[in-house]
Amino acid sequence: MGRWLVLGGTRFLSRAVAAEALARGHEVVCAARGESGAVPEGAALVVVDRDVPGGLDALRGERFDAVVDVARMSYAWVRDALDALAPTAAHWTFVSTVSVYADAAALGQGVDGPLVPRRESGDGATDPEVYGGLKVAGEQAVREAAGDRALVVRAGLICGPGDGSDRFGYWPARFARGGRAVVPDAADQPAQIVDVRDLAAWIVAAGERGLTGTFDASGPRTTLGAVLDEVAAAVGAADLERVPVAPDVLAAAGVGPWAGPSSLPLWLPASHVGIVARDTAPAAAAGLRCRPVADTARAALEHERALGLDRERRAGLSPAEESRLLTHP
Ligand SMILES: NC(=O)c1ccc[n+]([C@@H]2O[C@H](COP(=O)([O-])OP(=O)(O)OC[C@H]3O[C@@H](n4cnc5c(N)ncnc54)[C@H](OP(=O)(O)O)[C@@H]3O)[C@@H](O)[C@H]2O)c1
Repeated sequence: MGRWLVLGGTRFLSRAVAAEALARGHEVVCAARGESGAVPEGAALVVVDRDVPGGLDALRGERFDAVVDVARMSYAWVRDALDALAPTAAHWTFVSTVSVYADAAALGQGVDGPLVPRRESGDGATDPEVYGGLKVAGEQAVREAAGDRALVVRAGLICGPGDGSDRFGYWPARFARGGRAVVPDAADQPAQIVDVRDLAAWIVAAGERGLTGTFDASGPRTTLGAVLDEVAAAVGAADLERVPVAPDVLAAAGVGPWAGPSSLPLWLPASHVGIVARDTAPAAAAGLRCRPVADTARAALEHERALGLDRERRAGLSPAEESRLLTHP
């Protein structure tokens, strides 16, 4: 069994990776501030602040069989981690994103597609292109420092228990409440998701066998209609009635696509459907196994219930917004 370092480990994907590595018998060290939550039981937490120069010095030179870095918005974090740990790491996984691609519209692209320009600084939280550019720079740094041992995971939409974005969870939560539910009249729109537990399982299995290279990591291509059908069948209330509303009506009412307040999550304009229509066959061939959407929906609903179905959401429509749309479409 190996010694794993997860840079993160207190929330969502990195926590799921730590939990999976523990379940497979590895020793797991998580390095984080400890502010987002607890590490899984059995993992050790080394308290670090990556915003502080030399923040990873407590771990410098330690030997790990596998390091997993999910650094989201900071090129400096990636570079500092490589500087402190890459020389002694046997395998390095960098979690990147499909937001690295310059063409967000084309369907069926693979990892060789053109990328957005690299960025070493900027606020990726407010600008998706900056987010993608920071990840491009991070990927390049990882390949330079550990290319012969590096796995770059360009994740698609990560769903399931622990998701703090409130995106996918909107649908199980909404359908479980029942009644008349607004859905985008866009059933044929491409869709593609990956359950956080499946992605974590693949990352750990890939680290164990030393898989290297760059992969688009998401589930098979499907449609928004098929995803919502499966969510409704899995967790929908008996009186659920889905009411399709035309995209132009939604836009005129100020409903946004994809994410954020006053949105319908997973709905995308044609200019962006390529991010959920990637060619994920290479990841599947390399062992990424994706569970049925229904299973993700059930687990997401459990998480939603723990958070409170009536809470103010980060993504989706509020009951009042939805009712306005249903009354005055
Ligand atoms: N969500 C999606 O659909 C999606 C899609 C594509 C790609 N991705 C990628 O998937 C990954 C998601 O990672 P994640 O779910 O583990 O969540 P995350 O929000 O990226 O957080 C990861 C960890 O960073 C730690 N952290 C935050 N600030 C820190 C600091 N100053 N110093 C040290 N540690 C710090 C957090 O712990 P503490 O707060 O406890 O310090 C947390 O454990 C990211 O790489 C993201 O870019 C996500």
